[in-house]
Amino acid sequence: MPIKLPEGLNTALNNADNVLVLTGAGMSAESGVPTFRDAQTGLWEKLRPEDLATPEAFQRNPKMVWDWYEERRSNIHKVVPHAGHFALVEMERHFEHFLLATQNVDSLHQQAGSKQVVELHGNIMLSICSETGKPIDDEWITTSTDTPPKSPHHPLGLARPGVVWFGEGLPADFLRRATAAARDCDICFSIGTSTLVQPAASLPFVALDSGAIVVEINPVPTALSTQAQFSLQATAAEALPLIAAALT
Ligand code: OAD
Repeated sequence: MPIKLPEGLNTALNNADNVLVLTGAGMSAESGVPTFRDAQTGLWEKLRPEDLATPEAFQRNPKMVWDWYEERRSNIHKVVPHAGHFALVEMERHFEHFLLATQNVDSLHQQAGSKQVVELHGNIMLSICSETGKPIDDEWITTSTDTPPKSPHHPLGLARPGVVWFGEGLPADFLRRATAAARDCDICFSIGTSTLVQPAASLPFVALDSGAIVVEINPVPTALSTQAQFSLQATAAEALPLIAAALT
């Protein structure tokens, strides 16, 4: 059944000029990237994050962690943005102040053409030194015969994916910009996130406390649903084109 935008959302959209968008794994689901916590299909339904997404796990078994991220990288190479990603590009053009804070590491927003993007959990296509955090270029990675490749920046360093692991801090500048946007925005969209992983999960609540209107897009209720002014139980590819079309 096609969805309809709830009463009042059009007016809110057209009265706003400062917008923050927070996205999570559900935003990439319709492009074919698995989420983390969806029943049966979520990555963490089958695998333990503490075995794969922590610095300790990498120390314990760098090859297993590297191989898992390599598998995810090769899947992500095959996927393309969907109508929801392109609708966010249109929204970015429409609003005077716009920031897209994503928890996703797959670059699908940038691939669709989004510019004002902060990657709160890093980027899976980047490789960094496990000791210094310095970036390692692709050529070094692809020409190395070690798994994972040794780091060119430190004698004890190994190449690791440029993502934020549990127990690690988010990129300080990106978090600062996202938090400032949450405080200043008129509307905050929370799209395809279970709103469980901090500090990103607190951004819509910071926006609420600052008097902004919060719009959630998620087929399944979350901790935010009862507090959001608009909670669209729909998918990202269904709802976002309707929202972009409502902008005058
Ligand atoms: P989750 O897997 O926890 O949540 C995905 C959410 O998207 C769920 O609430 C789904 O109901 C919803 N969803 C599924 N399909 C959707 C669709 N087509 N359109 C809209 N919503 C949909 O993913 P995140 O909230 O992003 O972090 O997880 C946050 C962080 O936990 C990730 O960035 C990752 C993970 O561990 C790290 O690894 C540090």
